[in-house]
Amino acid sequence: APSVVACSPGGLNPHLSRTVFLLLLSVASAQGVPPDPTACLVFQSVNGTSIACEPPAKVPRRLPADTIHLAVEFFNFTRLPAGLLRGAPRLQELHLSSNRLHNLSAELLQPVPGLKVLDLTRNALSRLPPGLFQASAALHTLVLKENQLRALDASGLHGLTALRHLDLSGNQLRTLPAGLLANVPDLRVLDLSDNQLEALPSGFLRGPLCLERLHLEGNRLCALAEDLLAPQVDLRYLFLSDNKLAKVAPDAFRGLRRLDMLDLSNNSLASVPKGLWASLGRPTQNLQYGFDLSRNPWVCDGHLHDLFRWLVDNKEKMFFQNDTRCAGPEAFKGQTLLEVAESR
Ligand SMILES: *[C@@H]1O[C@H](CO)[C@@H](O)[C@H](O)[C@H]1NC(C)=O
Ligand SMILES: *[C@@H]1O[C@H](CO)[C@@H](O)[C@H](O)[C@H]1NC(C)=O
Ligand SMILES: *[C@@H]1O[C@H](CO)[C@@H](O)[C@H](O)[C@H]1NC(C)=O
Ligand SMILES: *[C@@H]1O[C@H](CO)[C@@H](O)[C@H](O)[C@H]1NC(C)=O
Ligand SMILES: *[C@@H]1O[C@H](CO)[C@@H](O)[C@H](O)[C@H]1NC(C)=O
Repeated sequence: APSVVACSPGGLNPHLSRTVFLLLLSVASAQGVPPDPTACLVFQSVNGTSIACEPPAKVPRRLPADTIHLAVEFFNFTRLPAGLLRGAPRLQELHLSSNRLHNLSAELLQPVPGLKVLDLTRNALSRLPPGLFQASAALHTLVLKENQLRALDASGLHGLTALRHLDLSGNQLRTLPAGLLANVPDLRVLDLSDNQLEALPSGFLRGPLCLERLHLEGNRLCALAEDLLAPQVDLRYLFLSDNKLAKVAPDAFRGLRRLDMLDLSNNSLASVPKGLWASLGRPTQNLQYGFDLSRNPWVCDGHLHDLFRWLVDNKEKMFFQNDTRCAGPEAFKGQTLLEVAESR
């Protein structure tokens, strides 16, 4: 039985986000055309066909040969329909979020070498098969958010030479192999938030990759070593909140000449070493967005002198001033860092 109907003429951009699909859906219903619930939404443009399936639709057994965009989401599938991608060699985007996939075949992506976007959000993947990305030299966005990944092989990203955006947030990663990013030179956005990372290996962020955005919030990092961030001279956004950072090396931020946003909130920082702030903010540069040091157990004694001077110079970029308070010593307990800094 055919489970695909065309419901909209061409003319729109084929790079459809889910929002556009939903929009099309609502337009269809607003016009009083009751959508066939067992049909996927199909949209054709000069560039090819886009197909979006959600329950209770039936996923087509054969895709049109010109399919460029496929979404099969919210089905709770534990395995993908066999040969799903075989008939769609021009596929550019594949959205498989909100299923229950727990492993993938190493050959899954071989029929679709032009794939640019792969979204596997909210599945149950605990590992990636070796060689999965062997034929994925066009892939620029890989989203593995909210799976059960515990570990990745050093060669886990091999083949992804065009990768720009990698989202591994919300997994169970405890550690990562040192060479994981060695073959993704174009990576710009790396999201490792909400994992169980206790440390990152030395040299993990070594070039040639050149990140703009790094998410490490919601892990268990205790210390920031001096060599981790140093190679990332173009980094603009750095998120380290909700960790257990107690120690930051004096040179940890030395290379960050373009940083616009720094979030260190909700850590275990009582003190920071002298010289840490020298490369950030005024007088050196301009933190365009700002910084957050709130919800740390700051001990407002002479050791923070350097930070106090820097705070006064950069206070207009400081988020949550009222939640950035001294935990000690007794004489300053409860006062905001900024009050103490300005009274010096
Ligand atoms: C078709 O794809 C090209 C190249 O990606 C793009 O520039 C163009 O806007 C697309 N055409 C339509 C109708 O969306
Ligand atoms: C998928 O699982 C969720 C959570 O158990 C449930 O609410 C939903 O109805 C399921 N969807 C389908 C299509 O079975
Ligand atoms: C998934 O894992 C199971 C058990 O390890 C295996 O039998 C099955 O073939 C795997 N499926 C794929 C698609 O690799
Ligand atoms: C602070 O971080 C811890 C993890 O270190 C987290 O469990 C907690 O929810 C965070 N608190 C807030 C208010 O976000
Ligand atoms: C600042 O924080 C204190 C206690 O943490 C609270 O009582 C007060 O209402 C806050 N003031 C503002 C302006 O948010």
